[in-house]
Amino acid sequence: MSVVTIAREGNIAVVTIDNPPVNALSQAVRQGLVDAVSELDGDPDVSAVVLVCAGRTFIAGADVSEFDKPPQPPHLPDVVSTIELAAKPWIAAIHGSALGGGFEVALGCRFCLATADASVGLPEVTLGIVPGAGGTVRMVRLADVEAVVDLVTTGKPVRAPRALELGLIDRIIEGDLRAAAIAFARDALSRPLPQPLSLRPAPTVPVAFWVETEAAVAKRARGEVAPLRALACLRRATETDFAAAMQFERATFLELRASEQAAALRHVFFAERAAPRPAGLSGVQALPLRNAAVIGGGTMGAGIAAALRDAGLPVILIERDDAAVERGIANLRDIFAGAVKRGRLSEAAAEARLAGVTGSTDYAALADTDLVIEAVFEELLVKRQVFEQLGRVCRPDAVLATNTSYLDPQAIAEGLPNPGRFIGLHFFSPANVMRLLEIVPTPQTDDATLATGFALARMLGKVPVRAGICEGFIGNRILKRYRAEAEALVGQGVAIAAVDAAMRGYGFAMGPFEAQDLGGLDIAFLQREGARAAGRDVPETLGDILVRAGRKGQKTGGGWYDYKPGDRRPVPSDEVTRLLGARIEPGAALDAEAIADRLVGAMAREGEAILAEGIAEKAADIDLVEIHGYGFPRWRGGPMFSTRSTLT
Ligand code: 3HC
Repeated sequence: MSVVTIAREGNIAVVTIDNPPVNALSQAVRQGLVDAVSELDGDPDVSAVVLVCAGRTFIAGADVSEFDKPPQPPHLPDVVSTIELAAKPWIAAIHGSALGGGFEVALGCRFCLATADASVGLPEVTLGIVPGAGGTVRMVRLADVEAVVDLVTTGKPVRAPRALELGLIDRIIEGDLRAAAIAFARDALSRPLPQPLSLRPAPTVPVAFWVETEAAVAKRARGEVAPLRALACLRRATETDFAAAMQFERATFLELRASEQAAALRHVFFAERAAPRPAGLSGVQALPLRNAAVIGGGTMGAGIAAALRDAGLPVILIERDDAAVERGIANLRDIFAGAVKRGRLSEAAAEARLAGVTGSTDYAALADTDLVIEAVFEELLVKRQVFEQLGRVCRPDAVLATNTSYLDPQAIAEGLPNPGRFIGLHFFSPANVMRLLEIVPTPQTDDATLATGFALARMLGKVPVRAGICEGFIGNRILKRYRAEAEALVGQGVAIAAVDAAMRGYGFAMGPFEAQDLGGLDIAFLQREGARAAGRDVPETLGDILVRAGRKGQKTGGGWYDYKPGDRRPVPSDEVTRLLGARIEPGAALDAEAIADRLVGAMAREGEAILAEGIAEKAADIDLVEIHGYGFPRWRGGPMFSTRSTLT
């Protein structure tokens, strides 16, 4: 069956794109649209054309899976101008999302209608490219330049009500979209039509605006090229004529489409979409999740409870005593209040989120809970006691999860009746914000429980990655190696500040030492001390020397750096130089690129070992862990992708 079909409703033609799953603009769709224009232009009985899509969404954009191949005609800019300059006016009727090329097609239509829950936008920069079919050139002719710059350089879509405010769409449709669009078309024919965007003038924008915006976008982009190149397209669109601006945009699009950053971002795009559906679980039914409980209301427990509430699940929060319950609830209140302050949640919604949490000290409250997540102190005996109680009170089919970071989940589950329903769910702090969820089954975990872990991740909007059992699972194991390599560089005489600067230059928000100062050096220290106490041979790290000297990070006024009171800016520390002096060899300085190569190379080699041991199922999963849990720059594609040509 053809992906583009035409129906007629009196003098209105309805063109339907049906190209599952998301009506991407494959070559067949592009050709179908061009053919539809020529057929309908030649049909004297047709006065206007409504463009709709079948399935869950309007056109989600160009077909990203075609980007590794040379572009095939008809090219999208030509398709859009063919629609725009058609003899019969086209009207886009949007449901779901009109993104990228999809919105560019809509911009080529004379009118744009959308359902209230639809969204529109140009997310190309998130794929390392710029709009390639006139998005920048037409948008500046349609809406306020400042708003357009924001939309295009962040790539964030907007919902229909905001799109209407900005003038990006003409009307919001309640009820039957197709019927309303046909009625709109008939009505529109009785009035003069608006000019196609390509024939409208571009606004005059002061140069100072571009200079200021360029500086702001460059700062935010931290090495990512697409946002700045998109901004250049927008600027060109206001400073030259339509045809020249189109040419500039297209050339930029084609150049970036073939770039390493775009390849990296495509890799992440497809990895993220594959993550919720691991191959081994196809056909396995997840258990129903109607409610949940969290044991422990500390930072992690409260964050997990907030994430569960954000997904709409009623939550029971269990703590040891009334005071601890109070503290847990207060932690949750702070989280929701923070969301209100940042404009992410209304006061009323925050209250409703909090009202859905029941604090208790009594495990008996969990008798009918579908999922319990333990987030108590990272101590085997404490955790075992929790599961002993859960084993007594919970339904035999309730999923019981531990949020351990380092302990062996098998040891935690020892003695639990029905160990098939036990699983590790490793959240990252703040758990209501960070998107990574490491899912750690034990050898006993049954498939339904594992599938429930993945279903939970989908509910919470998280990126799930299955990890095998080893110390630190995937992420913390690589973190340990990364930090050890960073210390090794310092030991060879590379300045602490040079290491941090190199990793910021690579695209991390913070270098490894600054990050430790922020989070505190003591947690990893205590863990190493625990291992030493258990008789393991754990060599003294440079970080251990600092902690023993009372330098635990920002919270103690110093760690790898000194901090002035009330100032988070790191200052290189003479005391650290003195404390570590005996362990530092005078060495040749390394440039930033060499430092980043060493550290990313170390991460990737650990990743290789993790793959070889079966701890991760695929390299792309490791990349997702680093990007969503540890701040690895998305546009580098992750440590495995970015080093793929250098690893043996
Ligand atoms: N090209 C190819 N495949 C796409 C695609 C695209 N643009 N968008 C989505 N898909 C695929 C996904 O890979 C997934 O495939 P799978 O089922 O085999 O894993 C399937 O469609 C469903 O996608 P999601 O799981 O993401 O579905 P959701 O319903 O959660 O979300 C969506 C739908 C909001 C449309 C989301 O898919 C999305 O944001 N897609 C990307 C949109 C985008 O970036 N468009 C711009 C493309 S670049 C462009 O248009 C250039 C132009 O300017 C020339």
